[in-house]
Amino acid sequence: MAGDSETGTGSKSTKPLDAGDIQLLRSYGLGPYSNRIKQLEKEIEECTKNIDELVGVRELDTGLAAPSSWDLVADKQAMQEEQPLQVARCTKIIDEGAERAKYVINIRQIAKYVVGLGERVAPTDIEEGMRVGVDRNKFQIQLPLPPRIDPSVTMMTVEEKPDVTYADIGGVKEQIERIREVVELPLLHPERFIELGIDPPKGVLLYGPPGTGKTLLARAVANRTDATFIRVIGSELVQKYVGEGARMVRELFQLARSKRAAIVFFDEVDAIGGARYDDGQGGDNEVQRTMLEIVNQLDGFDARGNIKVLMATNRPDTLDPALLRPGRLDRKIEFSLPDLEGRTSILRIHSRSMNCERGIRFELLARLCPNTTGADLRSVCTEAGMFAIRARRKTVCEQDFLDAINKVIRGYAKFSATGRYMVYN
Ligand SMILES: Nc1ncnc2c1ncn2[C@@H]1O[C@H](COP(=O)(O)OP(=O)(O)O)[C@@H](O)[C@H]1O
Ligand SMILES: [Mg+2]
Repeated sequence: MAGDSETGTGSKSTKPLDAGDIQLLRSYGLGPYSNRIKQLEKEIEECTKNIDELVGVRELDTGLAAPSSWDLVADKQAMQEEQPLQVARCTKIIDEGAERAKYVINIRQIAKYVVGLGERVAPTDIEEGMRVGVDRNKFQIQLPLPPRIDPSVTMMTVEEKPDVTYADIGGVKEQIERIREVVELPLLHPERFIELGIDPPKGVLLYGPPGTGKTLLARAVANRTDATFIRVIGSELVQKYVGEGARMVRELFQLARSKRAAIVFFDEVDAIGGARYDDGQGGDNEVQRTMLEIVNQLDGFDARGNIKVLMATNRPDTLDPALLRPGRLDRKIEFSLPDLEGRTSILRIHSRSMNCERGIRFELLARLCPNTTGADLRSVCTEAGMFAIRARRKTVCEQDFLDAINKVIRGYAKFSATGRYMVYN
């Protein structure tokens, strides 16, 4: 066969290719298994395609679907069909419940209109005072909208429960009891208060020297209840523009009211709750306005309702009396320095997770640190661990604790804020 074709090209006359030549051209350069390999590759390709289909649409790193799966035409069509809506507020419903009910909507800075409902909205979905989406031609209501709440306020909700429980707090038994009475009892057994005919306290103020467990206790409360826990740091409410802080407070309580039960915790409330005074220039007015809005909101909600307010501060003397009067923050719980028993249990709590030698006399250690706060004692435990690490030991012994007490209690006395607190209060 090969000889044939050679002779064919040798003579100049054109000779039609015969079947053998075609076969040769077809298989020229192919290995003995190329066809099989090709088929196998095809099968593999089909197999991966099947797998891709089963796995479903996958996202790229950019968060977009693969460009091959884009359907631009359909998207364009959908965009044209769904007009952008305008936000309006439904101020009044005329003939509510009737077949031909009409709705008064107010579009900010444009006008008020009396309109009907769009096709896809049920009359029961629309209430007075609601935000709604209206189309731009006939201004029919197309979509009920949720109330507008600043995202920075929504972010304050504590989603994950803190892992602190009452067992992690040493020496504040009485305070725990009192806060549970105010926070847990009304939320769990409201009927007891109704039967007696009294209003449960609306709010609690936690005050005391820094590092005595105020924030810690609030976190334990959050862990304990199923209520939504909203944590606000006082300084977050101090905003740049006039009225912003007050608006945030309003939205905060609006958010709390929309929940089944909520606990609002203002930490370091002295940032906004300072007593009103006149500096002659109106410089701090904004801060005061924020605080007044809190006072307002405290008055506004029902005491038997589902919102409890906790506040924590270490400068109770600077707070505005209006905030503290009964009916607003009824309970004031003082956190004082832990007593001997408290100190012992705090030391135990913080050394629980440490690898300690057996038989450490915590009570003796507690005796050696008079006038210390929970935070100091925690630091003692940490330092004891550091001493053990420095001595390359795997367990902490009593001597480490003694060294740590010397270091922390003596050495850091200069920084302690407790003395100053005692002077002011
Ligand atoms: N009673 C206590 N029991 C156990 N740990 C405490 C106690 N008080 C304070 N601490 C420790 O001190 C740390 C700071 O306490 P914190 O509650 O934040 O103080 P503050 O009262 O200033 O808000 C806590 O994280 C905790 O480890
Ligand atoms: Mg605190």
